[in-house]
Amino acid sequence: MAAAQPLNIVKMKKMKQDGIPLSMITAYDYPSARLAEEAAVDIILVGDSLGNVVLGYDSTIPVTLDDMVYHTRAVARGAEHTFIVADMPFMTYHSGITEALQGIRRLMQEGHAHAVKLEGGAEIADTVRAAVKAGVPVLGHIGLTPQSVNQIGGYRIQGKDAADAERLMRDAKALEEAGAFGIVLELVTEEVAAAITSELKIPTIGIGAGRDCDGQVLVYHDVLKYTSDYMPKRFVKTYGDIGEQIKQSIGQYVDEVKKRSFPSKEHVFTADDSVIQALYGKVASEKTPEKVTSK
Ligand code: KIV
Repeated sequence: MAAAQPLNIVKMKKMKQDGIPLSMITAYDYPSARLAEEAAVDIILVGDSLGNVVLGYDSTIPVTLDDMVYHTRAVARGAEHTFIVADMPFMTYHSGITEALQGIRRLMQEGHAHAVKLEGGAEIADTVRAAVKAGVPVLGHIGLTPQSVNQIGGYRIQGKDAADAERLMRDAKALEEAGAFGIVLELVTEEVAAAITSELKIPTIGIGAGRDCDGQVLVYHDVLKYTSDYMPKRFVKTYGDIGEQIKQSIGQYVDEVKKRSFPSKEHVFTADDSVIQALYGKVASEKTPEKVTSK
């Protein structure tokens, strides 16, 4: 039987037309990607949230292109049959189209991403257009754009007043017009996200943007509470508590090592008496720990 083909951007548009929701989750390494693929997610995003949830930074700003290439490549090894989108990190697509295309080339050729995501609206439309012209599927990202968090003044909900709603709609249309195959709407009021979704022909994928988007995306570590200092977020639903399970399991392991109850008989490899005889001149049954250590 032929291996399953990843979803593609033509099918994604058709899914919007048919009212079939798109599921997207972030992943950053081989095991997370593999598990996401086995769980039949439609799209994996190698998000620059990598900075927060994997690398221990307090924002996405320190994440580099090298970080993204390295992690995208690991994800691609783990999810060979899933459509993979990789984030272009902070300030890698603002100094000119040539620089942007070089970064995108690395994410796709070295990282093996199928598509890239860029944060921003009308102001990056020319870059999106150039990438699309070069044959690159581009996912837009508007609303709360974490790379601009210092400019926005924190993680604030977007689209709360008429001017903001109009700006978001303008940005969404500019990205669609530039050739983006879809747009992530992050922390956008439900009504504004719904209006953008119905106005566009390309799918919207929401995170904290309500129930009417064409798809939803969540961060892997949020879905699973995969951290010891998980901060509940209203727009996130947690489906597991892996952090607690990991802590308990490691704690139990440490305890058993300290009590010498691990390893037990079923975890050890044994040698024939002849081997022990050759080493110590006695068979194992005659050997005591004291005699062994005094050798
Ligand atoms: O980096 C990321 O994980 C993202 C999602 C929150 C959409 O951009």
